[in-house]
Amino acid sequence: NNYAILMAGGVGSRFWPVSTQDFPKQFHDMLGTGDTLIQKTFNRLAHLIPKENIFILTNERYNDLVFEQLPEVTKRQVVLEPAMRNTAPCILYASLKIQKENPDAVMIVAPSDHWIEDEQTFTENVQQAFNFCSDNDALMTLGIQPAFPNTGYGYIEFDKSNSSSIKTVNQFREKPDYDTAKEFIAQGNFLWNAGIFMWSVKSVVKAFQNNQPELFELFKTGISSYNTELEDDFIRENYPKAENISVDYAIMEKSTNVHVIAAEFDWNDLGTWGSLYDKLDKDESGNAVVNSRTLAEDASGNMIRTKSDKIVVVDGLQDYIIVDKEEVLLIFPKSKEQDIKKTLQQVKDKF
Ligand code: GDD
Ligand code: MG
Repeated sequence: NNYAILMAGGVGSRFWPVSTQDFPKQFHDMLGTGDTLIQKTFNRLAHLIPKENIFILTNERYNDLVFEQLPEVTKRQVVLEPAMRNTAPCILYASLKIQKENPDAVMIVAPSDHWIEDEQTFTENVQQAFNFCSDNDALMTLGIQPAFPNTGYGYIEFDKSNSSSIKTVNQFREKPDYDTAKEFIAQGNFLWNAGIFMWSVKSVVKAFQNNQPELFELFKTGISSYNTELEDDFIRENYPKAENISVDYAIMEKSTNVHVIAAEFDWNDLGTWGSLYDKLDKDESGNAVVNSRTLAEDASGNMIRTKSDKIVVVDGLQDYIIVDKEEVLLIFPKSKEQDIKKTLQQVKDKF
């Protein structure tokens, strides 16, 4: 009864210019390991879930990339979205499809762009969550010990008095402002939301029904067409009507049956050049250099990713991101990495 949905429809704009709308980061080998991020995620899930029960949710424009990179998946497993509406609509839609196929399904929802090295512990933590979700009406998430007041994450306040490894959650807050995030961390009983969820299909469908009645009605209307040849027409017409909202705001903030299990493995949301820098090998001055034809003098803390046919010389530069692609050269301070998203918009408006 184990299923997975792998979310692979985001654009990854803070990894511009490598990640683009036509070729987002999850389809790149960002870590230089030989596998793309989506391939790594698929293989990680395959330890827990029969391969044929791993569904890939993505925008229709990435259909070809999915089949190229995951040749073993069949059409049934690829759920295509005709419009970008963030994670809540696609999770509800896929959950209803899976529920129709197997009403007793228990599933994990996983982003396609995370770094997790200790797959053994990951598997154990998820297995424990699966056992809990098959017996309880619960929305489970994996929590990460917070390191600093990152405003790009969800925060989970857990019940201190509960000493078991699966804890009840008092409050789930998506992307608080900086001061609130600081306060949360000071309190000591907050974890970051890893963005990896586990629940029974029954529980998640119920959570949408209770907290997002409009969204629920929209996708419920099409149920007789799901997993048949009529589905395509229904989705093409109705999917774009869905509200643009993430699963965190749609159900996690609103539900009272949220539980958390503190992850016992190292985790990194490969969301920015800086987070990738943290995971790459560095030279003795702390530069992460992807191209071996690079000469770095009096340079430290830089993330330098250029094409291997180019000789690159860097001198007198600290803590910068340098990314060279055919048509774009980006030179950006690491401390402003979150702004790359805005910069990309400016570039689009201007050129
Ligand atoms: N199929 C599909 N469709 N996938 C999508 C869509 C969509 O419209 N939008 C985003 N995704 C995918 C992304 O590719 C990514 O793998 C995942 O869903 C999460 O989306 P992000 O856009 O990366 O979310 P976030 O990083 O802002 O926030 C989430 O993750 C954080 C941890 O990384 C939240 O769950 C936070 O609470 C969490 O802390
Ligand atoms: Mg993310």
